[in-house]
Amino acid sequence: MLKRISAAVLAGLTAMAVTACGSGGGGASGGSSGADVITMGFSQVGAESGWRTANTKSVQDAAKEAGITLKFSDAQQKQENQIKAIRSYIQQRVDVIAFSPVVESGWDTVLKEAKDANIPVILTDRAVDSPDKSLYKTFLGSDFVEEGKKAGTWLVEEYKDSTDPVNIVELQGTTGSAPANDRRDGFQEVIKADPKFKVIASQTGDFTRAKGKEVMEAFLKANPDIDVLYAHNDDMGLGAIEAIEGAGKVPGQDIKIITVDAVKDGMQALADGKISFIVECSPLLGPQLMDLAKKVVAGEQVPDRVVTEETTFTQEQAKEVLSTRQY
Ligand code: AHR
Repeated sequence: MLKRISAAVLAGLTAMAVTACGSGGGGASGGSSGADVITMGFSQVGAESGWRTANTKSVQDAAKEAGITLKFSDAQQKQENQIKAIRSYIQQRVDVIAFSPVVESGWDTVLKEAKDANIPVILTDRAVDSPDKSLYKTFLGSDFVEEGKKAGTWLVEEYKDSTDPVNIVELQGTTGSAPANDRRDGFQEVIKADPKFKVIASQTGDFTRAKGKEVMEAFLKANPDIDVLYAHNDDMGLGAIEAIEGAGKVPGQDIKIITVDAVKDGMQALADGKISFIVECSPLLGPQLMDLAKKVVAGEQVPDRVVTEETTFTQEQAKEVLSTRQY
């Protein structure tokens, strides 16, 4: 009797699990068939910054809104955790996998596994450096090189009348990540035209406030004449502000600060005059991601690349828009 009940319970649970997995209803999907609900496996980088928190919320809210079942995992900034999550999504036969790769390289094997299982992959936010573009359907996110160029262009304009050397320190994002590589390269491309711009120190702050503070403290100790800080995100810039104030200097005056993202805390510091200029990087990718997922699962064509629209903010502009910022 007990055996019979257990078997019935097990059969029921199995049926529930399959239903929860849903299906894309054919097309490019490798997921189980039978239901209309799409299941997406999403591997997030982590929770390292205000940007990331806003991005996670955008993805979760948009999935709910679109009626997509979301299996979400946080990789805590570790590539091996993302690879494990992707493999588990393949095993669960989700309809589509989306992920924001913590670093650019080292994805080919797991992406091939997804392709062999006929499960489409969408890259969101960050790119991979794989030459085989057939391993993913599309890449949705910002143009990070362009963001670096915008930061450099503001700097060149700001110092256009000065002939003195401009000593810059750079807080880079996570080593090996697309935004760290591209924001560094885009910035360099613009400032290299004038030799007065010198990057005197450059180190990763891993996109976090705590690391930004720690590295900036070391920069300040080693370099008495810093004119400009270029931080690859607001959080590292905000940590650096604490270090600059701790060293008895005035952020925004003694040291000009350029950051990327435009999250609320960054915009507040910009409006307060502590940051000098912010290049926007929008984390609100959720709705576009869900649209792309539906198309990909239905077997429709999607563009190889979908670039997010973004702007820049001066201190005056920050004061105007601060109250209406969504993140
Ligand atoms: O990949 C986007 C970057 O990652 C954001 O600029 C940064 O804040 C985040 O951690």
